[in-house]
Amino acid sequence: MTELVLIERSNNIATVTLNRADKKNALTSDMYAVIADLLEAAEKDTDLRAIIFTGAGDTFTAGNDISDFLNNPPGDMNSPVFRVLLGLARSTVPTIAAVDGMAVGIGTTMLMHCDFAYATESSVFHMPFIDLAVVPEAASSLLLPSQVGYRKAAELLMLGKPANATEAVAIGLINAIVSKEALMETAQATAKTLASKPPRAMRQTKALLRRRAEAMDERIAVEAKAFGEGLASAEAKEAFSAFLEKRKPDFSKLG
Ligand code: COA
Repeated sequence: MTELVLIERSNNIATVTLNRADKKNALTSDMYAVIADLLEAAEKDTDLRAIIFTGAGDTFTAGNDISDFLNNPPGDMNSPVFRVLLGLARSTVPTIAAVDGMAVGIGTTMLMHCDFAYATESSVFHMPFIDLAVVPEAASSLLLPSQVGYRKAAELLMLGKPANATEAVAIGLINAIVSKEALMETAQATAKTLASKPPRAMRQTKALLRRRAEAMDERIAVEAKAFGEGLASAEAKEAFSAFLEKRKPDFSKLG
C-alpha cells in the first residue's frame, strides 16, 4: 500500500511529504497520526536539526479530508489532528514549508508555525473555515492577526478570501516565491544552513521566538471547542454535504 505520508531522513534533516496526490493531499486521521509521531519524537531527537514539509503532485494540501472529518470527527486533545496542532505549536525543531499549489485550511495555518515558508508562483493560500461554518484552527485566530495584521487577517478568515503567492509574500505569510525547479533546493539549502548552526542555541532561539506557546495551547483548545460545535451544526452539514455533492451550499434558510 502506498504510504500517504512519506518521511525521509537525510543526515540530520527530515522531509515530510504529504503523498495523497489523487485527493489533493487531503489529510486523514491516519496521516495526522504519522506527522504527530514525528513531531513528538523530534523533540527528543537532538540529532534532528530541521524538518521540511511538502506535498506530492500539484497541491500542498487540500486540508482536512472532509469525509474522514465527518466520519471520525476530531476527539480530545489526544486525537491525531490535535496532536499535530499542539506538536507544531510546541516544536523547538526548525521547520520549513515548501509549497507548490493549493494550501487549504491546515495547509495555510501550519505555515504560521513553520519558521520558513517558500512557495511557487502558482500557489494559493486559502482558509475557508467560515464557508464551512467552522472556525479557524491551529491557533491561527491568534497568530494570523499578529503575523499579517488585523485587516488582512479579517479578509482571509472572515471573508475566506484566498491569497495568491504575491500577496502571501507581501503580508509575510511566506518568505519568498521560488520556481518549481528551485523549491526543494531552496528549502533544503535553508535546512542545511540551520543544521550547520549550534543545535542547542538553535532550539532555544526557536523556543524564545515562540514564547507564546502556552497562549497557543490555550487558543487551540478554545478554537477546538468552537470548531467541534460548528462541525455539529446545520450550517456545517450543509457546507460539507455541498462539497461532497459537488454543488454550491445554500445558507439562506439557516440562522
Ligand atoms: N477532503 C476530501 N477529499 C478532497 C478534499 C478534501 N479536503 N479536497 C479534494 N478532495 C478530493 C475531491 O473530492 C476529488 O476526489 P474525486 O476525484 O474522488 O472526486 C479529488 O480530491 C480531486 O479534487 P477536485 O476538487 O476535483 O480538484 P480541483 O483541482 O478541482 O480542486 C481544491 C482542488 C483543493 C480547490 C478542491 O478540491 C477543494 O476545494 N477541496 C476542499 C478544500 C477544503 O475545504 N478543505 C477543508 C479545509 S478545513
